[in-house]
Amino acid sequence: MKLRPEEETRLRHILEPLKSDKRIQRMKKYIQHGRVSTFDHVESVTRVSYWLNKRLHIGADEQVLAIGAFLHDYYLYDWHETDNGHGLHGFSHSTTAKDNAVRHFGIGQRTQSVIECHMWPLNITKIPRSREAWIVCIVDKYVSTKETLLCR
Ligand SMILES: [Fe+2]
Ligand SMILES: [Fe+2]
Repeated sequence: MKLRPEEETRLRHILEPLKSDKRIQRMKKYIQHGRVSTFDHVESVTRVSYWLNKRLHIGADEQVLAIGAFLHDYYLYDWHETDNGHGLHGFSHSTTAKDNAVRHFGIGQRTQSVIECHMWPLNITKIPRSREAWIVCIVDKYVSTKETLLCR
């Protein structure tokens, strides 16, 4: 899944304001799956989503797709610490991530829905309703499975 030089440039341009933010850097401290940090996980999901949209000519909005993918797990805590009141992580973290993203970066409605719907079908009522939301929902499952299997 290789991005072309001009696609790398475009993606870097979209993500630049996020990546240079101190609060975003906190995702490097939290482990998502195995030995993969949340930061590296959201970066993989963003790159694969961007690649898929380009190669399959899905026609998703690149800004909404990339920002939504990059912030989809912006919940900012270690979900492995099950005794700190986050036991329902699987169900609650998409809302937490969306709320944090709205508070910190003022993201719009379409990007919010990408984040909110990425846990479908676990969150059965939050159905992806846009190309961007579908891409991130599917790619997140693919990347998560790969990350979990690779460290066994
Ligand atoms: Fe997630
Ligand atoms: Fe994720």
